[in-house]
Amino acid sequence: MNHDELMRLARTMLERAYVPYSHFPVGAALLCKDGSVFTGCNVENAAYGSTLCAERVALVKAVSEGHRDDWAALAVVGKGEDYCWPCGACRQMLYEFCPELTVLVGRGDGKYVTCSLRELLPHGFGPSALT
Ligand code: THU
Repeated sequence: MNHDELMRLARTMLERAYVPYSHFPVGAALLCKDGSVFTGCNVENAAYGSTLCAERVALVKAVSEGHRDDWAALAVVGKGEDYCWPCGACRQMLYEFCPELTVLVGRGDGKYVTCSLRELLPHGFGPSALT
């Protein structure tokens, strides 16, 4: 799957978002090196702090299915006119498993930009800090 296709898949996940509080749907899709893909959407909760971001839903799906060290790229997208940059907590969670991850960040009009997780989280704190 190429980057355009990954972003298109992330965009389809906007429909699955459960966003009764923010009305801000987010879709995500995480591509692994063997071609497997794990999708996600944000899932909100009446106890607001329990909300799950789209990227972390995709992340836990991948890890729980045994894909933790073969990630290639993550696409994340919203419907707004601004790019849907991953929040700090998502950057940190992604960094744990793949500091070199390529991140595609999309916006409502179909455009997206490509960057690296290292750009999004410079000097990140990861597992190596604890050894
Ligand atoms: N959200 C994500 O899904 N990913 C992010 O990286 C940023 C924020 C969601 C959480 C919440 O459901 C909504 O966007 C508004 O914050």
